[in-house]
Amino acid sequence: MKLSFPALLALPLLTSAASLQKITTPFGPNPTNASFYIYVPDVLPARPAILVNPHWCHGSAEAAFRGSQYANLASKHGFIVIYPQSPHTADSCWDVSSRETLTHNAGGDSLGIVSMVRWTLEKYSGDAKRVFVTGVSSGAMMTQVLLGSYPDVFAAGSAFSGVPFGCFAPTGRDNAGVYGYWNDDCAKGRVKKTAEEWGALIRGGYPGYEGWRPKVQLFHGTKDEILDFVNHGEAVKGWAEVLGVGGGPVKETKDTPLKGWTRYSYGEGWLEAFTAEGVPHDIRVQENTVLEFFKLNHTEGDFSWGQGGPAKLAL
Ligand SMILES: *[C@@H]1O[C@H](CO)[C@@H](O)[C@H](O)[C@H]1NC(C)=O
Ligand SMILES: *[C@@H]1O[C@H](CO)[C@@H](O)[C@H](O)[C@H]1NC(C)=O
Repeated sequence: MKLSFPALLALPLLTSAASLQKITTPFGPNPTNASFYIYVPDVLPARPAILVNPHWCHGSAEAAFRGSQYANLASKHGFIVIYPQSPHTADSCWDVSSRETLTHNAGGDSLGIVSMVRWTLEKYSGDAKRVFVTGVSSGAMMTQVLLGSYPDVFAAGSAFSGVPFGCFAPTGRDNAGVYGYWNDDCAKGRVKKTAEEWGALIRGGYPGYEGWRPKVQLFHGTKDEILDFVNHGEAVKGWAEVLGVGGGPVKETKDTPLKGWTRYSYGEGWLEAFTAEGVPHDIRVQENTVLEFFKLNHTEGDFSWGQGGPAKLAL
């Protein structure tokens, strides 16, 4: 494509020499061979936070890197962004269905991604208290998988147009080794469970885990034609149960962050659910709202939860 003069003017000014890098050295257990791309700003604080940004189906690490402001914001605020790339070349979706991916340290794509996090924490003296994940569509499904299987690794996650943890696992059969299964019942909003059932699934992601749980932020368009909006309500039920903030939202804020979007806050902000009225699957990422939820645009001293922070939710 030839860029016209006005389009050239609109290109962001690059103020830093940092760029997207592919990591080709071994980085830890990665049984499904996911690829590892990273954006490391030239200037970092002593203990940088880490943001993981898994792409959507038919996407790529490069597309995710170009498709949002996270790298620019990383340079501005001094954090590292990991852009994993799916190994499933047929559709480039993430494995959100296998027992391996849905279980702590058991394998699947989730373990490969967590190995990227562990490697990055070590190499850049990252702040293990401040590791976050956000994504759209398949990246949003993977966000919920990572929060359920690795609550000890992530401080918070933000999912745009995803499905609940475990919803894509095949119904009525063993999901061991079932990577990259497309669960049409879930996609179409036909998988419904009680809060307790979703909660049990999430807790089953890390059996016996008693530690604190990551904060959760969920966005979904009411007109989603790929992953039905029903999935939003189902995910809210499950996370509210696990976080102990059920009983309905304590606050409702209209036209936030965009006109027609409503934010429902549960339990003093441990769970935020945004309903985007009339919005289809192709939802607009809200980088600033995500950064604020993660406090990634604040200084480290401002951070008050997560590993090493107040252990349990103050209710
Ligand atoms: C991952 O790559 C290794 C080395 O190339 C190969 O032996 C293994 O079968 C691959 N695993 C998968 C799940 O494709
Ligand atoms: C972080 O971003 C949010 C949303 O843009 C803004 O309201 C808040 O003031 C910012 N905080 C800081 C410390 O810059």
